[in-house]
Amino acid sequence: MTWDALYSSAFDRVRESIGRVGRVLLAYNTNIDAIKYLDPKDLEERVEKAGKEEVFRFSEELPKKITSVEHLLGGILWSVRRGKAAELFVESCLVRFYMKKWGWDELRMGGQVGIMANLLGGVYNVPVIAHVPQLSRLQAELFKDGPIYVPKLEDGKLKLVHPKAFQADEENLIHYIYEFPRGFKVFDFEAPRENRFIGSADDYNPNVCIRPEFKEAFEEIAGKVELAIISGLQALTKENYKEPFEELERHLEVLGEREIPVHLEFAFTPDETVRKRLVEVLGRFTSVGLNEVELASIMEVLGEKAIAEKLLAHDPVDPIAVTEATLKLAERTGVKRIHFHTYGYYLALTDYKGAHVRDALLFAALAAAAKAKLGDVRSIDDVVKAMDVPVNEKAKAVEEKLVEEYGMKDGIAEVNGYQLSFAPTKIVAKPKSTVGIGDTISSSAFVGEFALR
Ligand code: AMP
Ligand code: GLC
Repeated sequence: MTWDALYSSAFDRVRESIGRVGRVLLAYNTNIDAIKYLDPKDLEERVEKAGKEEVFRFSEELPKKITSVEHLLGGILWSVRRGKAAELFVESCLVRFYMKKWGWDELRMGGQVGIMANLLGGVYNVPVIAHVPQLSRLQAELFKDGPIYVPKLEDGKLKLVHPKAFQADEENLIHYIYEFPRGFKVFDFEAPRENRFIGSADDYNPNVCIRPEFKEAFEEIAGKVELAIISGLQALTKENYKEPFEELERHLEVLGEREIPVHLEFAFTPDETVRKRLVEVLGRFTSVGLNEVELASIMEVLGEKAIAEKLLAHDPVDPIAVTEATLKLAERTGVKRIHFHTYGYYLALTDYKGAHVRDALLFAALAAAAKAKLGDVRSIDDVVKAMDVPVNEKAKAVEEKLVEEYGMKDGIAEVNGYQLSFAPTKIVAKPKSTVGIGDTISSSAFVGEFALR
């Protein structure tokens, strides 16, 4: 079959069955994204004013956190020069004020939980229970209508209400997203790819502050769901990870006892101690989602430096290196499903078989293209509008390698007793924005796969 035909049949089948998926638990990170589309002249002026030399220094090496305007501007330039995403915690209130005055073009739902809640609940009509660390009025307004719930405790009794009906006046957790297109030029730098730099002016998500409702009523909440997706552990550091990890392990135990499949959305975790701990608990998850940088960073803590280097050496990423890396990860941790995504293709390694794994990847690729094209996906019909986005040309060579090495057919092969599923993706040439595409991919594929089972 052609990829177009496979795409089209995958979409029809997921659309038909997604209504049957039960409640999905989403924890832990939700915030407000203030998106600023960078203007080169404005950015250059700000850099000159702050001191070019100092700012340039941080564009060579990222600071650990933002405590000055030079850190902020240096971080932005670091991302532009490499076309790579980065996210840093903004500690200084003066820098928070600077970012607020600099302003934004758009306010959007942010955080993996918030983005997935709006997609699953607001677009696919799959009921979700979301952890929202702080429910300000603005945060609540950013939730779409639909079966999206947050737990509320009334006289010790658990109630599930839509975030808009939670009616609390809590804090605004704002992440400033500085987006730039491919070819964006400042000074002598030119962005090789569209991407963004994030400054998080937020004390709750970076510390994974878990709400009392989730601590007190977790057993009951877990009793109401069929699937779970965990995210937001990426900003933890060796100084603050212990407490949230204790709570995470308790949650995993409760979910495990109920045999609820749990997906971990990995996200780039700069702290090595935290990354190691995540790899240690990975076997208690059913599934994990990650990109090439994240997979390479895991290979590093597993002592597989050579594979880590291979993963970052080519564009598109060498699929044989990806397969080797995911095999090592599956064998070492016992995780049953690894969903790898990169610019141009996805691979899934599963310890079970079936064409539904590949079909869910194709559905996710359509959703991602719709998100890139429109910025916001409003309905499942928006997803099918991405059918006319062409399949990435470079994915052909990737597929040929997989055919040659593993005898792959129609995107499916068997490797060391695992199934390897492949999807060449649709790439939008001029995306509206890049933030949240990874979350769209992982949640669509994970939930889509369960819909097709
Ligand atoms: P992440 O690396 O987790 O932020 O996720 C980004 C993913 O989004 C990449 O791995 C690509 O698969 C996908 N992606 C990025 N840009 C585009 C685009 N212009 N069109 C379609 N998919 C994209
Ligand atoms: C991270 C950021 C958040 C953004 C999300 C998109 O969680 O903190 O601001 O919306 O990534 O994936």
